[in-house]
Amino acid sequence: MEKYFVASDHAGFAVKEFIVNYLKDKGIEAVDEGPANTDRVDYPDFASKVSQSVMKDLTNHKGILICGTGIGMSMSANKHDGIRAALCHDAYGAKMAREHNDANILCMGERVSGLGEMESILESWLASEFAGGRHAGRVGKINLMGGCR
Ligand code: RB5
Repeated sequence: MEKYFVASDHAGFAVKEFIVNYLKDKGIEAVDEGPANTDRVDYPDFASKVSQSVMKDLTNHKGILICGTGIGMSMSANKHDGIRAALCHDAYGAKMAREHNDANILCMGERVSGLGEMESILESWLASEFAGGRHAGRVGKINLMGGCR
């Protein structure tokens, strides 16, 4: 079953808390992968934690990562085999990331996007599915760059 793993760094903590509650309110299984407070942490550690959780079941697991800009989280997550992390700034991008790129981790920036915008990005992401077809071969080419899958 679909399961979300959510994490942030200190700069994305407030939105991470919001997202975990948002998903749970919608009846979506959500695991809070930290941090537990706003003490300074390094975003690659949390990107790696969520990426590894998603890699355990690439069919059913997805991730959400929040940092100040979303940039460091997306860079770090995309180093992991089988992970396609998309940094999204609007609902259209989130829809395309799912439909065309089969993105499995959504990244957003708390210092860049407002909470209302991030909620619509998340709604759009959750409502969208991978379209397959001509996109499947392209995603396959991305996956080969990582070494497999
Ligand atoms: C933390 O200051 C900031 O660098 C981090 O949250 C993120 O924006 C990095 O990409």
